[in-house]
Amino acid sequence: MRHEPLDPKLFTENRARLAKLLPPKSIAVFNANDVLPINADATWPLRQNSDLLHLTGVEQEETLLLLFPDADDEKMREVLFLREPNELNELWEGHKLRKDEAQKRTGIWQVKWTQDFWQVFHRLVCEAERVFLNTNEHKRAACPVQTRDDRFIAEVQRRYPLHTYQRLAPLMHALRLVKSGREVAVIDRACQLTRRGFMRVLKFVEPGKTETDVEAEFAHEFIRGRGRFAYDPIVATGANACCLHYQENAAPLKKGQLLLLDVGAVVANYNSDMTRTIPVSGRFSRRQRAIYNAVLRVLRASTAALKPGLKPKEWQKASEAMMTEELLSLGLLKPSDVKKQTDEKPAVKKYFMHGLGHPIGLDVHDVGDTTQPMEAGWVMTVEPGIYIPAEQMAVRLEDTVLITDRGPVNFMANIPLEADEIEDAMAR
Ligand code: GLY
Ligand code: MN
Ligand code: MN
Repeated sequence: MRHEPLDPKLFTENRARLAKLLPPKSIAVFNANDVLPINADATWPLRQNSDLLHLTGVEQEETLLLLFPDADDEKMREVLFLREPNELNELWEGHKLRKDEAQKRTGIWQVKWTQDFWQVFHRLVCEAERVFLNTNEHKRAACPVQTRDDRFIAEVQRRYPLHTYQRLAPLMHALRLVKSGREVAVIDRACQLTRRGFMRVLKFVEPGKTETDVEAEFAHEFIRGRGRFAYDPIVATGANACCLHYQENAAPLKKGQLLLLDVGAVVANYNSDMTRTIPVSGRFSRRQRAIYNAVLRVLRASTAALKPGLKPKEWQKASEAMMTEELLSLGLLKPSDVKKQTDEKPAVKKYFMHGLGHPIGLDVHDVGDTTQPMEAGWVMTVEPGIYIPAEQMAVRLEDTVLITDRGPVNFMANIPLEADEIEDAMAR
């Protein structure tokens, strides 16, 4: 683990919140993600299952968590299963958690080895009525491969065909969408590491450098801060920024271009997500500044609008109405374009074609039912943009913001944003 361990109370509290949602006599089982193969003998580094992280923080492969809040034997209400350390796996892969270490990290007293799972499970499941199992139900998830959860679900249903099976995903989505104070504090740390990367980049960018050079500057700060990239960073100069998920990050930076930076750090598995757009030469042209300020106004207004009770769909609609006005002022849309628009084809989509924001947490595009009104404790990104391939440029601005009953808390409020602030910081 690269980061300092988090306070185990974070996980203990999360498990307690889940236990309250489970009906009587329910067992819930969470699986680690698989270590995925690449080519030849290579594998990807493990990216742990986010629900398991939420409830235990354990980043180790082959981990299982069993929760049975009504178990007659109090000691068996929370059981963590870990891959047993041995000389060979530790020689090649490094240190594996000992039982006492896992207890300290997770707050779970009962720790067993993974190979003992079925024996323990059998004893407990005979006392249970319902079995809650996990699947990836993110709306946009595309998963053509069989996961560890898929295999587990098939196996447990083969062994115990007459139990009632239910879905953990709706419960986990509801829990994870509302962040605890402890989670919020870690997300803020990730945002502050993102800030450090960006401050470094502001002093670094100039014509002649490349997108790759800029990515390396962020990497330096993130790794030094014991974090990583939360997602593949987008470092896109000129027309490259019009590709929404641009990944190449290889082009030279040219005088007069805008450079779009969609880059966030992850710390202790909690993510941040930031976008800034800066002038390669250190000064915005008049046209660039006009477009920049249009996006900035939509960002500011959409951030201020975040409050409990607001439906994400209405929030999106309001931002599109604002953006339509901005695009008219910029001369990018004509009044006749707006007259012709339909609900299915709003004129604004030609220049602002993506969502205004998404929940963020243990996943960058975090789980949660966003058809529901917002609540205090949601952490959302706000990310309006204008994309103009004909002018070989795009501006997107993005902050990570907490919704509270007393108004939004912008974790990125201290990251330069006004055009003048950006120019000043680049001049220094
Ligand atoms: N960086 C991914 C996003 O902005 O949603
Ligand atoms: Mn982003
Ligand atoms: Mn985002």
